[in-house]
Amino acid sequence: MPLVSMRQLLDEAAKGGYGVGAFNVNDMEQIQAIMIAAKQTKSPVIVQASRGARAFAEDLYLFRLIEAAAELNPDIPIAMHQDHGNGFETCKSAIALGYTSVMMDGSLKEDGKTPSSFEENVEVTRRVVDYAHERGVTVEGEIGVLGGVEDGHGAGGSGLDHITDPDQAVEFAERTGVDALAIAIGTSHGAYKFNKKPDGSVLKMDVLIKIHKMLPKTHLVMHGSSSVPKDLQDIVNQYGGKLNPTWGVPVEEIQLGIRNGVRKINVDTDNRLAITGAIRKVFAEHPEKFDPRDYMKPAREAMAKVVAQRMTEFGQAGHAGDYKPIAIEEIAKGYASGALDPRPSLAGAR
Ligand code: G3H
Ligand code: 13P
Ligand code: ZN
Repeated sequence: MPLVSMRQLLDEAAKGGYGVGAFNVNDMEQIQAIMIAAKQTKSPVIVQASRGARAFAEDLYLFRLIEAAAELNPDIPIAMHQDHGNGFETCKSAIALGYTSVMMDGSLKEDGKTPSSFEENVEVTRRVVDYAHERGVTVEGEIGVLGGVEDGHGAGGSGLDHITDPDQAVEFAERTGVDALAIAIGTSHGAYKFNKKPDGSVLKMDVLIKIHKMLPKTHLVMHGSSSVPKDLQDIVNQYGGKLNPTWGVPVEEIQLGIRNGVRKINVDTDNRLAITGAIRKVFAEHPEKFDPRDYMKPAREAMAKVVAQRMTEFGQAGHAGDYKPIAIEEIAKGYASGALDPRPSLAGAR
């Protein structure tokens, strides 16, 4: 089936009361791992590529691989999403390639590092929404700033530095018309999120719940949501890795989020750990091996296992066949007529 609108995936998830994992990809094996897991668990899925991933894999290689995934898995709805777009041009180029969803991360300036002003964020996000909706493409915005730095992207610092202000979230959703809203509740990108199991002093689920009460129809997005499980850390360290002890976002907190409006959950680090652990294990146990397939195959299997587990935990498992994908052209008509206008004040918003 053709790539599906992320908005449709999230609207369906809201109806069903579940969340959808958005998994980052950089290469063929990661895309295959996601599709193995989606097929096994019968899950709709969001595949996402950062700017770094697009540069690493080259746009066309990566996009053709996604098209192959869609063609080979006609029963699985797949949305292809630009993760952390840093400006209008990045989003426009993703849409030109055929991405069905873009994130305009206007919480940071175009350098991807410096926090921007609220007005700057509204302005650039609104511009992307106008352009994308005309073409049937979904838009995710971000209000508040996550902690950490991944591949040069991010403000750095702690996840507590720029927690989302709920009143600003409401104003932002209204003024931009984003389909999905990423909020900052204390998480960070990467492996080092918390130095002990997080409680309410560092992981602000209360803020998320408050925002959901004020924006009950807005699809919320949790970034930096890898759980960084100890068993994956241990495998890496057992075979020569050097990870410092760390804690991620517990799955039960994500599930609490899903009960309170979270529809998209971003996971990258857990898969990176699974891949690295599997490769290190082969290298340590079989130093005589040098065929990349000997370590890429277990790496792909290890990632598929993590993704399948998350799909089950987020509740998307079993929902691949619930609905018929709507063509992107029809979605565009829905935005044009106002039927799909996501602004919270509009009665027709979903
Ligand atoms: O937003 C962070 C994702 O984990 C992607 O990371 O920019 O290193 O590809 P990346
Ligand atoms: P993690 O680093 O927690 O996997 O977060 C990924 C993410 O938010 C991508 O946008
Ligand atoms: Zn992110």
